[in-house]
Amino acid sequence: MVRCCLRLCAVGGVDMARIELDLAHAYRPNPKQDSDFALLPLRMTFEDGGAYALLGPSGCGKTTLLNVMSGLLVPSQGSVRFDGRDVTRQSPQARNIAQVFQFPVIYDTMTVAENLAFPLRNRKVSKEQIAKRVGEIAEMLEMSGQLNQRAAGLSADAKQKISLGRGLVRSDVSAVLFDEPLTVIDPHLKWQLRRKLKQIHHELKLTLIYVTHDQVEALTFADQVVVMTRGRAVQVGSAADLFERPSHTFVGHFIGSPGMNFLPVQARGGMVHVADVALPLSPGRTLLDGELKLGVRPEYVELVPPGTAGALPVKVSRVQDVGTHLMLSADIAGQTLKVRLSSDAAPYLPGDTVHVQLMGEHTCFYRNEEIVP
Ligand SMILES: Nc1ncnc2c1ncn2[C@@H]1O[C@H](COP(=O)(O)OP(=O)(O)OP(=O)(O)O)[C@@H](O)[C@H]1O
Ligand SMILES: [Mg+2]
Repeated sequence: MVRCCLRLCAVGGVDMARIELDLAHAYRPNPKQDSDFALLPLRMTFEDGGAYALLGPSGCGKTTLLNVMSGLLVPSQGSVRFDGRDVTRQSPQARNIAQVFQFPVIYDTMTVAENLAFPLRNRKVSKEQIAKRVGEIAEMLEMSGQLNQRAAGLSADAKQKISLGRGLVRSDVSAVLFDEPLTVIDPHLKWQLRRKLKQIHHELKLTLIYVTHDQVEALTFADQVVVMTRGRAVQVGSAADLFERPSHTFVGHFIGSPGMNFLPVQARGGMVHVADVALPLSPGRTLLDGELKLGVRPEYVELVPPGTAGALPVKVSRVQDVGTHLMLSADIAGQTLKVRLSSDAAPYLPGDTVHVQLMGEHTCFYRNEEIVP
């Protein structure tokens, strides 16, 4: 604790860490197969001051990964390093981590101000500093008017805002970890708080790691998103990386609404065979022969006049008006292809044949679910 206080004074409160993981975790002893692991072997680095999200469906291992980083959980294999120091067996306190959970963790008998001040009091920060910092955080969370109210009487939303505030009040932490912190918050406030967190990240330059299963939440909050499925981190990237070049078919499916189209194709002699039609590869593109999946986002499928080079005829099955655009579904070799069209596109009807261009600069190919470079 003494060391922290000294550092706080010495470097103006900034005490973040570069977090390196090289580990795996199984809750059961003697794991043998992949499904025994909550986290399969992974190596990952979280840089100082970054805004990260861990994104994936329920049960994929997000909380396990977060708890391994905070020190609530010791991984069954491997290590956690902060700035090169091995902290694998250190507690969250010793690692200097703040963590915000899904449900409020606050003291009902204390006032809002006392709750916010608590993590600082524990660290023997001066009264003046505490008052200043509590004031700043309350203002950011728009709770300045409630500072002297007891927490007991507040709504669930307000209590969770206090939890967020307690996580953010110390500027000397290695990182602040959030585990789906906006679950109990109503949708409008959720949107506001998400923006607030982003703004706080800009102002305080803290390392923030945010768990969510909501892609919009992850992509708006984080600079780098870790996409997880079944204990595996399948891609780490910016919103653009995940959208433009999903490195795994899971990322293609999971990111976007709807997700990427995938079609089974065969690469043969420099051509791609889709449903008995041979399509030429884009200039400069080469592929080894074999069975592949072609991935193309609905946004990048183009409708083209019949007879255009590489045009593939497909049958329209449905056209939905989704407000800002139209979503056309078409059948192709027993699969559904989604095509995003502008609202003023020609009025296609189910049963019509249209021609699509699948091969473009945004088209990706996958072998064993992994992208082919
Ligand atoms: N304490 C535990 N003991 C045994 N198995 C656990 C424990 N905690 C989690 N698991 C299992 O580990 C896997 C990953 O769980 P984890 O809670 O990390 O997922 P998650 O991505 O956070 O899910 P959610 O979105 O539902 O919170 C799941 O199969 C889960 O059942
Ligand atoms: Mg969880």
